[in-house]
Amino acid sequence: MDYPKLPKKCKSLLCKYLTPKVFDTLKNKKTINGFTLELVINSGVQNIDSSIGVYAGDEESYTTFAALFDPIIKEYHGFDTQDKHTSNLNPDDLNTPNPDSEGKFIVSTRIRVGRNIDNMHLGAVISQGQRDLVESTALKALSALEGELAGNYYPLLGMTKELQDDLYKEHLLFKEGDRFLDAAGYNRNWPDGRGIYHNHDKTFLVWINEEDQLRIISIQQGGDIKEVFIRLVSALKVIETEVTFAYNNHLGYITSCPTNLGTAMRASVHITLPNLAKDMDAFKAITDKYYLQIRGINGEHSANEGSVYDISNQRRLGITEVQAVQNLHDGVVALIGAEKTLAPK
Ligand code: ADP
Ligand code: ARG
Repeated sequence: MDYPKLPKKCKSLLCKYLTPKVFDTLKNKKTINGFTLELVINSGVQNIDSSIGVYAGDEESYTTFAALFDPIIKEYHGFDTQDKHTSNLNPDDLNTPNPDSEGKFIVSTRIRVGRNIDNMHLGAVISQGQRDLVESTALKALSALEGELAGNYYPLLGMTKELQDDLYKEHLLFKEGDRFLDAAGYNRNWPDGRGIYHNHDKTFLVWINEEDQLRIISIQQGGDIKEVFIRLVSALKVIETEVTFAYNNHLGYITSCPTNLGTAMRASVHITLPNLAKDMDAFKAITDKYYLQIRGINGEHSANEGSVYDISNQRRLGITEVQAVQNLHDGVVALIGAEKTLAPK
């Protein structure tokens, strides 16, 4: 493999850190599962507008290709090679009263984590048989959920287009055909082995075999962040007694994309900020201060709709789950404060 053509205008972390020297060091390396540099970088090479551009095929990818992953991880999470990751899922450590008790700004709150089964290939190189095994293992674990968390599984295979579209429009289901994942090998054998589990109220969801083997999600209308967190943690406790997930003391939970390592948690609100939306510099100053990311409301890489935005924690590694959620809360309080100040008197 030759050094790939990376145009000057490319702004991804791949383009920034895949120097000819790093390329030469890594070009002949392979993980025990056969994952190569070419597979690590293909998504970012094919999609020059990527923000990151790399995916791991297994836990070992992060050490075998450390010369590329480490600087990306450092820039994205502010996390050093000698740092350790710690987890804290104790809701009692949160101080997150509803930032919008009158329900004027926050449309909905969602917290998700990514999980991958220990010693299993990640989605980029997973075989069809392993993917099916992930699905059956997950379903067995989910059958242990009770009460509010009890629900049903809806496999994508055989799902009507109508149901798929409805779930997507309700912001519950992942999109189909993501080009970033596609170039990294994640969409092979689609839709086999993929699906969504949800409880009766659609406040607890599990995506199976999308970017990560499991995405475990708690979601509800309004801004009661703590209630959303508590529901997620109670589900995780049950699921994690049934399945062992890939985790190490340096990188925390192992995920397909380096942006999700550590807590693998993205805590978000959909929030209406019409006045701040007219002053993006002021908006960004607040989100930067609290390490938050601004996305559109139809998922990653989507545009905002009107003045409704998806605001979430950007860092996931080197901070605990409680810190990630606390950052979101404190940032949202600041955003709502600024929005009120800017409102015409
Ligand atoms: P992920 O959270 O899995 O990294 P996305 O940004 O693609 O990825 O979001 C996945 C889906 O979750 C999208 O349909 C998005 O609209 C929905 N979503 C995210 N945050 C919220 C929220 N706070 N309220 C409602 N839906 C949300
Ligand atoms: N690979 C895509 C990019 O570089 C997504 C990166 C982060 N998001 C994710 N879902 N892993 O733009």
